[in-house]
This record gives sequence, C-alpha cells and structure tokens, in this order.
Amino acid sequence: MAKSPLISASIIAAGFHQLEKEISRVSAAGADWLHVDVMDGHFVPNLTFGPMIVAALNKLWKKTLDVHLMISNPEKYLEAYRKSGADVISIHYEVIGPSPTLLDQIRRLGAKAGLAINPSTPLDVVDSLIGHFDLLLIMSVVPGFAGQKFIAEVMSKIKEATALKKRLGAKFLIEVDGGISKRNAASISRAGGEVLVAGKGIFGERDYRAAVKRLRRV
Ligand code: DX5
Ligand code: ZN
Repeated sequence: MAKSPLISASIIAAGFHQLEKEISRVSAAGADWLHVDVMDGHFVPNLTFGPMIVAALNKLWKKTLDVHLMISNPEKYLEAYRKSGADVISIHYEVIGPSPTLLDQIRRLGAKAGLAINPSTPLDVVDSLIGHFDLLLIMSVVPGFAGQKFIAEVMSKIKEATALKKRLGAKFLIEVDGGISKRNAASISRAGGEVLVAGKGIFGERDYRAAVKRLRRV
C-alpha cells in the first residue's frame, strides 16, 4: 500500500489580510510543510513574495519551509531566500537547463535542492541531473496561479518518476504541485506523489484540519 503523503500547504491561497492566523490554523491542522510560491512577473505572469516576506513567514511557521522559485534568475536570489529561512528551495528545469550548478549551490547553502518541471516538460530531462537534487517537483498545472485544474496527463509522469526512482534506488522525494483536491489526492499518492502541495484544497475549505486529513488519505 502507498505511504500517506506529506502535505505542503500553499500560502498563496491563504487570506493575506490575516496571514498570522492562517499560518497558525494550518499548522494546527497538521500540514507538514508550508509551500511558498515565489513569482517574478517574468518566468510567470504573476508577482508574489520577496525574501523579506518569506523571512516574516519563517517567523510564524516552525516546520519545513518549502520555497518554489518561479523566477528567471534564481542565481541572484538563492542566498537571500536561504537566509530568509527556506529549508527546501526548488528551481525550474526550464530556467536552469541541464546544468547542475545552481542545484549544487542550494545544497552548499544548507537547503534541500528541488528540481521543478512544468507540465509540458518531459521527465527524461531530469536524467542528467540525478544525484544533484533532493526533490523532484512535478507541476500539475501551468505555473502562475492557485486554483487551477489538475492536468490529468501529468499522472503518467508521476508514475514514470516513481518507476525511475525505484529503478535507480534514488532517494529524491516526489512532490506534486497544482490542482490537488480531496477528489484526486489519493490517486496522486498511489501513483507515487510523496509530498502533495495544496492551496485551494486547504485554504478554500472551511475546516483546514479535515481538509489536510482528507488529502493525506491513500
Ligand atoms: C502554481 C503554484 C502552486 C499553486 C497551488 O503556480 O506553484 O503551488 O499555488 O495551488 P492550488 O493547490 O490551488 O492549485
Ligand atoms: Zn508551487
């Protein structure tokens, strides 16, 4: 049977007028990680959180801080986000290409290195980077906005990644991000998703504890 996944609550879907309250509610609800979507208005059309805001979130959130950089020039900001308290920093294959330099730098800074791939990017691009990342972030929506619909075709990529991991005896975690709800979470976990990101699927629900519990069910 599949292991129950870790839940990474995506703060982009929270009520920003009451962030402190939202963070304490979602922590008490049992979310394992807090997912922070950093968007630069260039790699993606939307603009979100700079390192100062992440540092403020880090003061409120005591567990793993999972920072997803959707930015065109991560080399400029890795150190700043690490200093802001990021425990996991993910960068996009569509930005770095096949070079491991920035993933290695994330590890040198003392964080876990995440490699993110967009829905249209095939899994085999990660082959040459195996050994340089601790987490593979499989996007199941086109990055940019919370509350989009899960792209069903990504399910086969999750299965492929699970098979690859097994075949290599690799240790990286498989994280899935975008459109995860109580309706599809269990099948994503069974396909091999080990960390499920959820924005709307938690913050759009009345009872966060019940939402986290449902998302964890396999
Ligand atoms: C999309 C982001 C996701 C998103 C998740 O660009 O990377 O993390 O906020 O939100 P939901 O779960 O609402 O799709
Ligand atoms: Zn994300």
